[in-house]
Amino acid sequence: MGANHEVDGEIIIRFRTSLERCLARSEFLDRFYDRFMSSSDEVKEMFAKTDFSKQHRILRGSLYLMSRAAMGLEDGREHLMAVAKTHGADRLAIPPHHYDFWLEALIETAREMERDFDSELEAAWREVLGLAVRIVRQHD
Ligand code: HEM
Repeated sequence: MGANHEVDGEIIIRFRTSLERCLARSEFLDRFYDRFMSSSDEVKEMFAKTDFSKQHRILRGSLYLMSRAAMGLEDGREHLMAVAKTHGADRLAIPPHHYDFWLEALIETAREMERDFDSELEAAWREVLGLAVRIVRQHD
């Protein structure tokens, strides 16, 4: 599958290794949702009735599938297309700039968790997640 990688394999490995270290910390997803919801009252309201233990499981799966999409794998792309549908105009109707809040909140939370979150590691997170966000936004 290497030839079909949307993102360089080394970069995906760098992202995945860092992601797994972050997910191994029990506070990572809580910190992310706190930060994401404090980026705007609109975002906060959308999660007013959310069961966060379920939402944490969902996000774990999504992040993993985002790295699969970056590898050019079908299950990853399909997941993002499904997210685009549920988050699109006739369902959750997420405005495009909320995806910027989502991405920045995730990057800042990773920075907080990782001892060596240097510019190279940040670029790896941005490349993998940026691709995923572009796919979701393009298919809503
Ligand atoms: C690319 C980034 C994102 C991914 C991969 C993602 C993924 C998901 C998934 C898999 C679900 C479960 C339902 C479904 O299958 O659609 C979900 C639910 C949800 N997402 Fe997202 N999401 C993203 C960005 C956002 C953004 C920017 C918002 C803005 C507020 C948002 C708000 C929500 C809400 C409100 C729910 C329902 C929560 C509930 O059940 O109470 N998501 N998301």
